[in-house]
Amino acid sequence: MNKLFSPLTLGSVTFRNRIFVSPMCQYSCRDGFPTDWHLVHLGSRAVGGAGLVMVEATAVTPNGRISPDDSGIWSDTHGEAFRPIARFIAEQGAVPGIQLSHAGRKASTDKPWKGGGPLATDQRG
Ligand SMILES: Cc1cc2nc3c(=O)[nH]c(=O)nc-3n(C[C@H](O)[C@H](O)[C@H](O)COP(=O)(O)O)c2cc1C
Repeated sequence: MNKLFSPLTLGSVTFRNRIFVSPMCQYSCRDGFPTDWHLVHLGSRAVGGAGLVMVEATAVTPNGRISPDDSGIWSDTHGEAFRPIARFIAEQGAVPGIQLSHAGRKASTDKPWKGGGPLATDQRG
C-alpha cells in the first residue's frame, strides 16, 4: 500500500503525510534575514499540502553562510524574523523545519548564476 499520503509520527511530531520539502537556498535574504520571498516560497509549499517544509541552510554565524544572501540565525532578532513564516506554515497544517548550517571552507561564495566563485571581504564575502 502506498504510504505517501499517510501520516507519519517521529517522536512527538506528526506529519500529515510523507511529502517533505528539502531545504533549498534561495539567495534572497538581506543580512541573513528572510524576506517576503521566503514567506511566499515556503508558505505556498505548505498551502500545496506538504507534510514538512524546511527552511534553507541557515547559518549559525555570519561567516558560515554559503553566499552573503543566505539566511542566518545568529541573533535573537534573526530568530524572531522566522516566526511569522513558521506560524503560517503551521497554520496550513504542515510542520515547519529549519536546517542549521555552517559552510566552513565552502563559505563566502557568489550566487550560482553569478558563477559561484569565492568572494573577498570587500565583495561581501
Ligand atoms: C535550488 C536548490 C537549493 C538547495 N539548497 C539546499 C540547502 O540549503 N541545503 C541542503 O541540504 N540541500 C540543498 N539543496 C539540495 C536539496 O535539498 C536536495 O537534496 C536535492 O535537490 C536532491 O533532492 P532530490 O533527490 O529529491 O532531487 C538544494 C537544491 C536546490 C535545487
